[in-house]
Amino acid sequence: MEILNEILIVGRPIIKSKAFADCMQIRHHKNTTIAQHMINVTVTCLKISNFLESKGFKIDRKRLILASISHDLAMAHAKELYGFSGYFTTAFRHPIDSFKIAQEICDIHEKTSKAITRHMWPLCIVPPNCIEGWILTIADKYIAIQELFHKEKTYEIKKINFLKKPVTSD
Ligand SMILES: [Fe+2]
Ligand SMILES: [Fe+2]
Repeated sequence: MEILNEILIVGRPIIKSKAFADCMQIRHHKNTTIAQHMINVTVTCLKISNFLESKGFKIDRKRLILASISHDLAMAHAKELYGFSGYFTTAFRHPIDSFKIAQEICDIHEKTSKAITRHMWPLCIVPPNCIEGWILTIADKYIAIQELFHKEKTYEIKKINFLKKPVTSD
């Protein structure tokens, strides 16, 4: 299945949510919104998964997509949640709050929850405990650098029309 379709199907409960719509309004890493960032990270997670699966690794793609598409949901409300308490408080707390928001939207498996809450490793000290968590952690850092420093290459965003209009239900 084409990667973006896979994300749309599996990630649909999150992508349709108000929390995700809020993420479409807030700029992140200078050149993207939080929603675009989470899509970019999810696309990269699946590209890494495709490579690893071709080498015989087993990846739980559904749980990886749900973790990746949710991992920064709380950043849309960072100012209200964390005020002016600074970068480190935001960096420490947004993974846990993003998990809580995702859990209110859909059933979140433990593997997904740990991948979300540990995606800021090594800052959060406790490392990911599954391959899906490691993929998310690595993809998030790689994409953050791309978004910050390579504006002209800003990734898959141009292809993703649904980010420009509300996602409707079936
Ligand atoms: Fe994050
Ligand atoms: Fe992120």
